[in-house]
Amino acid sequence: MNVLLLGSGGREHALAQALHKSPALNRFFVAPGNPGIETLAKAVVLVSEDHEQIIAFCKRQAIDLVVIGPETPLVEGLTDSLAAEEIKAFGPSEDAALLEGSKAFAKKICEIFSIPTAAYARFNEADAAKAYLRDKGAPIVVKADGLAAGKGVVVAETMAEAEAAIDAMFAGAFGEAGSTILLEEKLIGQEVSFFALCDGKHAVALGSAQDHKRLGEGDTGPNTGGMGAYSPVPFMDAAMNERVMAEIVRPLIAGMAELERPFQGLLFVGLMITAQGPKVIEFNVRFGDPETQAILPRLEQDLLPLLKACADETLPEVPLVLSPQSAVTVVLAAKGYPEAPQKGSEIRGLDKVEAMEGVIVTHAGSKRDGHKLIADGGRVLNITGIGATLEEARARAYAAVDAIDWPEGFCRRDIGAKKPSP
Ligand code: AMP
Ligand code: GLY
Repeated sequence: MNVLLLGSGGREHALAQALHKSPALNRFFVAPGNPGIETLAKAVVLVSEDHEQIIAFCKRQAIDLVVIGPETPLVEGLTDSLAAEEIKAFGPSEDAALLEGSKAFAKKICEIFSIPTAAYARFNEADAAKAYLRDKGAPIVVKADGLAAGKGVVVAETMAEAEAAIDAMFAGAFGEAGSTILLEEKLIGQEVSFFALCDGKHAVALGSAQDHKRLGEGDTGPNTGGMGAYSPVPFMDAAMNERVMAEIVRPLIAGMAELERPFQGLLFVGLMITAQGPKVIEFNVRFGDPETQAILPRLEQDLLPLLKACADETLPEVPLVLSPQSAVTVVLAAKGYPEAPQKGSEIRGLDKVEAMEGVIVTHAGSKRDGHKLIADGGRVLNITGIGATLEEARARAYAAVDAIDWPEGFCRRDIGAKKPSP
């Protein structure tokens, strides 16, 4: 199969590593890619907004599958443009990607198909939202409806915080994304990211991971794109996995098919495991970052035919084989992240680290300058340790982190350290 992968992050590097192992892979292209992915796939210049350009490339290179990493091209209908030219893509149509593109749509779907989630109401203006707030009180969660790069959510502990968030969103703090807002009950429990592969009619679980979203150790400081992840998660046992499939994933897939918005691709359910069971926090319509870096190394099956089966509507509902080993992914970020990451510093010692046992390096925000590797973003590298236990995986990940010579970088030292119980 000839494959084109779209994206440039650690998630796409982890996807590239898994796809590269496939005996079914023939030619492999990436756009735009990064220094890590470029060792596995040929980087080409394509702009994800330019559907015509991507279609022309796919025809020229006889691409059998386009794997779309990030959410924006999905929400913008790239899958549909490709489908119109009979080019297969892994990733949902624009109609199905609305599950991530509009939180109000996602909530509506949960309501229609009785999928457990937090109680909520939606508003188009501040007065009605504030009246609801006075009725419900704090804590409460205030969310912008549309895509806001993970920043459009305020978990308000006080009425004043909630009012300020409502005002900021209607004042345009998140642009169009905040012209509709949701007020939501705050869920209490353990958060987990759950992945399922879906072909429109069928779904299979692809494991789960726990992200560490806050910048600082002990879950303090501002929210980030994710500072690390680990998999498997101890409380996501076989019974809880089946509950998530039975109460959330299968009803959602059946419901979306019924509404003629069949969901094909990776369904990422952001869950809270509450005292009453699993509840949906949000849906994403693509692989999570950095969860993918911790989950995919545990997959003991060829990923490429699975992704193709999702696009072809031929996904067998047979449980996937995941290694019982643990994976811990530590994100190395440039100092100043998330507000103002410093770019341009040199990273040394990566060759040595890549040769260490049970260590996988993925690139996220790096670039090459001749033989030098340079920091070129906020989250720059991800170091994944694999081991028989969570402790061994952690030890390997941090031993590798410590062997990297990059004084201008930092990481959280407690990824996978907290043994959670719901
Ligand atoms: P998001 O940007 O949508 O991933 O949301 C950011 C974070 O806000 C989530 O990872 C949760 O930790 C938190 N969050 C969102 N909705 C709720 C909720 N209803 N109850 C508790 N926490 C929430
Ligand atoms: N790690 C959370 C996300 O990918 O949205």
